[in-house]
Amino acid sequence: MYLWLKAFHVIAIIAWMAGMLYLPRLFVYHCEAEPGSKQSETFKVMERRLLNAIITPAMVASWAIGLWLAWTGGSYSAGWLHAKVLLVIVLSAMHGFFVRCVREFAADRNRRSQKFYRIINEVPTILMIGIVILAVVKPF
Ligand code: HEM
Repeated sequence: MYLWLKAFHVIAIIAWMAGMLYLPRLFVYHCEAEPGSKQSETFKVMERRLLNAIITPAMVASWAIGLWLAWTGGSYSAGWLHAKVLLVIVLSAMHGFFVRCVREFAADRNRRSQKFYRIINEVPTILMIGIVILAVVKPF
């Protein structure tokens, strides 16, 4: 049972991370599109669908199964897990920020530069590296 849960945890994480790495890239391209243009409207649909159909459900599943694993495996008192949850909270805050960005783009109210999205694009990658090392190596 535990290993099945872990397999579904990893599946949910792959879907969440795929979206978290791709969405800011869409924002970079969206910055170049003229508001009201056909291209801009297409980006809006892509961003909304990616967020609602993949990223948000995958985030909920990652959290739910992760907490379930911690409970059934008894790892809730381990140092690596506390550090990992801290990084996952930061990742979830990034998710919340992306929701806000999608809403602003949808209303043609984005004021941030393309450079800003290029930089922010790297944050989920850095967090993911830290989280996976903590989960697999368990250094403390
Ligand atoms: C707050 C949400 C999360 C909790 C509570 C949580 C908790 C856990 C627990 C208890 C395990 C089992 C560890 C083991 O049996 O060795 C696990 C496995 C794992 N988690 Fe998470 N996790 C969460 C989110 C994430 C995220 C966001 C990622 C990646 C970005 C991730 C990556 C992994 C990986 C790769 C494993 C497999 C480790 C192994 O088998 O060695 N987790 N998680």
